Amino acid sequence: MSTSGATDAVMAPEPEPPGGGEERPLLDVRNLHVEFRTREGIAKAVNGVNYSVHAGETLAVLGESGSGKSVTAQAVMGILDSPPGFITQGEVVFQGRDLLRMGGEERRKIRGARMAMIFQDALSSLNPVLSVGEQLGEMFRVHQGLSRKEARAKAIELMERVRIPAARERVKQYPHQFSGGMRQRVMIAMAMALEPELIIADEPTTALDVTVQAQVMDLLAELQREYNMGLILITHDLGVVADVADKIAVMYAGRIVESSPVHDIYRAPAHPYTRGLLDSIPRVDLKGQELYAIKGLPPNLLHIPPGCAFNPRCPRAQEVCRTDVPPLYRVNQERASACHFWKETLDDDSAPSGDA
Ligand SMILES: Nc1ncnc2c1ncn2[C@@H]1O[C@H](COP(=O)(O)OP(=O)(O)OP(=O)(O)O)[C@@H](O)[C@H]1O
Ligand code: SF4
Ligand SMILES: [Mg+2]
Repeated sequence: MSTSGATDAVMAPEPEPPGGGEERPLLDVRNLHVEFRTREGIAKAVNGVNYSVHAGETLAVLGESGSGKSVTAQAVMGILDSPPGFITQGEVVFQGRDLLRMGGEERRKIRGARMAMIFQDALSSLNPVLSVGEQLGEMFRVHQGLSRKEARAKAIELMERVRIPAARERVKQYPHQFSGGMRQRVMIAMAMALEPELIIADEPTTALDVTVQAQVMDLLAELQREYNMGLILITHDLGVVADVADKIAVMYAGRIVESSPVHDIYRAPAHPYTRGLLDSIPRVDLKGQELYAIKGLPPNLLHIPPGCAFNPRCPRAQEVCRTDVPPLYRVNQERASACHFWKETLDDDSAPSGDA
């Protein structure tokens, strides 16, 4: 396959699901580009992202800080900070329609009702001077025209659904009176209120301690199954996603560098960056051993290195990596990797494990 030395990566569409992909995805993000026009220059935050989510499916989006996970999500939701952020190319096809070509009013109706977002920091996302019940109830008053009393009843029902104990009493309380985990449940309830088809959860449990993290993640996964929602789960943490995700998209410098069903990626990654992320997971069986860390830092998005953006940090880099942007190679029907040496990477990992 030929490679391109141009600054923009050659983008193959994401592999179709098995069976020829006759089922239309709920969300199909195609060749999305976002840049931030700043005083220092143009930061290329998202450089041709392709991903899709079907109803009832969970896509985990992984990558180090600054790789463009949140900016992609903001562009999908229509909440990108603009200016300085601009979508310069691409499509965000939701239920068959490109959101980027919709009017503001129509877009607003979809946001919240058909697709909703959960953020990491519930305390700053909730209004501190309104009770939790008022905030939940507002969703129903605004979108469904319910009375105050009806809205409150719905709020209590929702709080019970996300298993907040003593919902009837707690509905009158303010966000600061809730623990971190309970506040995150309130956020989930807000997102679920209008029974959206898609939820984007951006690091929903990062601010919580480990046991509470697991409970909140379990709740999210359970609701997702119950309502057959599409879920995009953004996280740093490969450890968290193994149990909940169906497939993974790994981001680096604003590109998806590997996409794969979840189990295949753990078995044998097809991209050296994914390998590095996997090796950075703390393992109980290797207690006491020094934790692996990918050397170096993510690139400055004002000056993304030519060729493969990962090349300055990649243990496998060759000359071609410094000159030619790797296209998104199709590994098989369900997997893709943006690495010139994806075959070798895959072969290494398929071999019996040893110290590399
Ligand atoms: N408001 C902004 N102005 C300028 N640049 C921005 C802005 N927001 C994001 N960026 C740029 O976009 C890049 C990607 O940011 P993004 O928030 O998507 O990263 P992320 O992958 O979500 O990281 P994290 O894991 O830390 O949340 C940042 O490194 C930054 O350069
Ligand atoms: S293309 Fe080259 S530098 Fe990039 S990940 Fe593959 S081997 Fe490493
Ligand atoms: Mg983020």
